Amino acid sequence: MIQIYILDNFGDYMKTFEANDKENILKQIINSGFDMPFSCMNGTCGICSCFVIKGSEFLIDTNGNNFVSNGESFTTCNTFVKANLDGKVVLQAVF
Ligand code: FES
Repeated sequence: MIQIYILDNFGDYMKTFEANDKENILKQIINSGFDMPFSCMNGTCGICSCFVIKGSEFLIDTNGNNFVSNGESFTTCNTFVKANLDGKVVLQAVF
């Protein structure tokens, strides 16, 4: 399983959860209890953005492609984790 660690926008640890490969990361962050802002749910507004600190190799877009590198930001509402892998992803909220 892929473990996702969420840091707030100050870099303080907030949540950890086991990610599934069925729901986008935003839904899973919200279901974990972290108060993540969002609006459009389709990747255009950018409000749900996070920086990926570690584990970008486990993140894929809606077409199943890797698209982000560690240190870059991405929108969580249209990002998923790869299936059937073990790993750790560390994300820091932008807002
Ligand atoms: S909610 Fe708008 S980009 Fe994700």
